[in-house]
Amino acid sequence: MKKLKDSIFQQLSAVADQLNVETYVIGGYVRDLYLERPSKDIDVVTVGSGIELAKAVAISLKPAPNVNYFKNFGTAMLKYNDLEIEFVGARKESYQRDSRKPIVEDGSLQDDQNRRDFTINALAICLNAERFGELLDPFNGLDDLHNKVIRTPLDPDITFSDDPLRMMRAIRFATQLNFEIEANTFQSIAKNKKRIKIVSAERIIDELNKIVMASKPSTGFKLLEETGILELIFPELQKMKGIEVVKGIGHKDNFYHTLEVLDRIVPNTDNLWLRWSALLHDIAKPATKKFVEGQGWTFHAHNFVGVKMIPKIFRRMKLPLNEKMKYVQKMVQLHMRPIVLSEDVVTDSAVRRLLFEAGDDIDDLMTLCEADITSKNEAKAKRYMKNFKLVRKKLKEIEEKDAVRNFQPPVDGGLIMKTFDLQPCREVGLIKDAIKDAILDGEIHNNYEEAFEFMLKKAVELGLKPVN
Ligand code: CTP
Repeated sequence: MKKLKDSIFQQLSAVADQLNVETYVIGGYVRDLYLERPSKDIDVVTVGSGIELAKAVAISLKPAPNVNYFKNFGTAMLKYNDLEIEFVGARKESYQRDSRKPIVEDGSLQDDQNRRDFTINALAICLNAERFGELLDPFNGLDDLHNKVIRTPLDPDITFSDDPLRMMRAIRFATQLNFEIEANTFQSIAKNKKRIKIVSAERIIDELNKIVMASKPSTGFKLLEETGILELIFPELQKMKGIEVVKGIGHKDNFYHTLEVLDRIVPNTDNLWLRWSALLHDIAKPATKKFVEGQGWTFHAHNFVGVKMIPKIFRRMKLPLNEKMKYVQKMVQLHMRPIVLSEDVVTDSAVRRLLFEAGDDIDDLMTLCEADITSKNEAKAKRYMKNFKLVRKKLKEIEEKDAVRNFQPPVDGGLIMKTFDLQPCREVGLIKDAIKDAILDGEIHNNYEEAFEFMLKKAVELGLKPVN
């Protein structure tokens, strides 16, 4: 039996007894208590009015917190210290087929437990003094916690049909907690997968991002694929699955390769968008795949095509269309560059160009590239890793010497126009690019004097003369 240690529970207990209402802490908090995962979200269910209980609790606390409540739903929320406490009256719910919005009636604790998503989320602990700490576990959720099983309390067809988001939640919990989805529950997800269509993109992406942020995201994506949900919510990723063979030559399965890259990047970054970059780095491989006689399988320009696919994917999934997306696009576009570089002689000029294009995201790009080496050939993988070390060293040296990471040309368009008395025109662009290339190629150093001199030389070639 686990103890409710936080003093807030004594407070809740006293107020519930004063109002003479049966009251329980329920759901995720109780689950996490048993899993020893500290949690700050407390869900309280009372056989009475959740709003009234919340108001009475707030008055009893010092300083008294504000209560936010939603009369229509009968729910209330308050924040106290670092806790977020939600209050709700025990409910009986039934759902309409075409909507996630339930019809709600008052009910008993058992009714309330019946309508919850999983046995491990239906555990309740009584708060009233007489029964304080008593666990109510009508579906053997505790056994499922010990055996690491995700199972619905009722017939899964009912639970999922009531709220299809729960199909994503089942997969998300299985991924986060490293649990198995019980066979009936699993089959029911496969059977009811189409109902995911009535769930908003915002709710789906919340769950998907939690899967991406888990310590082994591949578990979730494999489950999404096996249940058939993946093709409904992320068809581009589904298309990556499979191997085609022509004349005895096959290519690698890009779905499993991608998942391996994603798992491999996890220990090295908590940046959601770098993890998304791993997920999307090869997304255009199916669209660019071609068998070329003498060469085998090619995926020409899959990085550039990938960049173009990203806005559509982000828009549909309600991911942000701002600088986060641009960052993912940049990672996808550049993801092969360090590999190509490491295969060749690592020249200063190639390193400078990469630094210039990646800017401050260069370290993230290297992290992605290292994760992308999934070769089973140990010698080959080792060679890549060794070369990447060399590339990293070279990047550091060049950056220290030439500072091209956030490179601003020392001679800009304005100065070019002034020197040659030009209006904005093609020549200005040509000279500007020539200066940038000369610096990146190491022909001149990144300083004003050399750039100015180079500009004069270039202008002569174009038939221009300075005004003074
Ligand atoms: N719940 C449910 N069906 C849902 C969402 C939630 O039955 N679609 C119930 C579960 O009993 C869950 C509780 O409401 O435990 C609280 O939900 P939420 O805060 O979303 O999830 P947690 O279980 O607390 O887990 P997490 O914080 O990891 O999302």
